[in-house]
Amino acid sequence: MANVCVITGGGSGMGLESAKCMPKDKIIVISGRTMSKLENAVNELKALGYEAYAKTCDTSSRESVKELAAFAAGLGEVKNVINSAGVSPAMKGTQESILRINALGTVYMNEEFSKVMNAGSVIVDVSSNSAYILPSMIIPKKAYKLAETDEEKFLKKLIKRSNLAKGEYQRKGFAYSLSKNFVVWYAKKCAFEYGKKGIRVVSLSPGLIATDMGNLESKDGGMLIPFSAEERMGKPEELGYALATVADERNGYLAGVDVLCDGGSTNGMKEFKKKK
Ligand SMILES: NC(=O)c1ccc[n+]([C@@H]2O[C@H](COP(=O)([O-])OP(=O)(O)OC[C@H]3O[C@@H](n4cnc5c(N)ncnc54)[C@H](OP(=O)(O)O)[C@@H]3O)[C@@H](O)[C@H]2O)c1
Repeated sequence: MANVCVITGGGSGMGLESAKCMPKDKIIVISGRTMSKLENAVNELKALGYEAYAKTCDTSSRESVKELAAFAAGLGEVKNVINSAGVSPAMKGTQESILRINALGTVYMNEEFSKVMNAGSVIVDVSSNSAYILPSMIIPKKAYKLAETDEEKFLKKLIKRSNLAKGEYQRKGFAYSLSKNFVVWYAKKCAFEYGKKGIRVVSLSPGLIATDMGNLESKDGGMLIPFSAEERMGKPEELGYALATVADERNGYLAGVDVLCDGGSTNGMKEFKKKK
């Protein structure tokens, strides 16, 4: 049976770049909300020699994620899931939509795909180095487990906490950081649950990357760039390669951790360049 790789947020940015680094014997499923973007991505992949399919999915809807999982499983054995779908503070939307897509979307993706995946497969959830930016005492970690049992209460608690920030962009930024901190926590949790079935789960946290999203955030969200080792943004293709290698089956012992792929900016800020 053919091996299938599913990439959410695959119509653009680092999701699309990760597809271009996958082995060509895999069937690639490119997913996102906008069909025109997916079709362009699939055409690009086909021109490179891939067998690729477009399938719309809104990861903030469990039903939509279920349909995506059934579609992918109908093409072959789902071996790799790269969950790159996400929205950021500078985009249209609210604190709630950020949390629904980035946090609850990850719950739906991991839960629904783990039902159709078998031993030797992998889920990579894309987080962000902004997951590390909040002081731990301010993170409502006890509320995280509600994401699986009481979504509305989970959202209410995280929105309430993000309302501590002043200004709309800051509140959305706070919600974004919480959503991505949750992704790191949740991917670890899933690694230990799905590990029994032989499914590997890892999160990967990019720093500021020059995708459509990253360029949009660079004005207000670029404060970490001077703290990175080379004092630059990351390139989408660098992150595509990082995601594809983490998702590679040969990386079979990498599980239950977050891969911080941010050019060193988090450590630069915390320790090595903080006096700058
Ligand atoms: N760029 C950065 O600086 C940066 C830094 C840290 C983390 N990240 C994370 O990296 C991931 C990829 O972002 P990117 O930089 O590659 O930006 P991007 O090009 O904007 O990619 C994000 C993709 O997610 C899709 N998407 C958004 N909401 C969705 C939903 N509800 N369901 C399905 N797909 C959805 C978007 O397509 P549609 O709108 O058509 O659905 C888009 O193709 C995101 O999770 C982001 O939070 C980015």
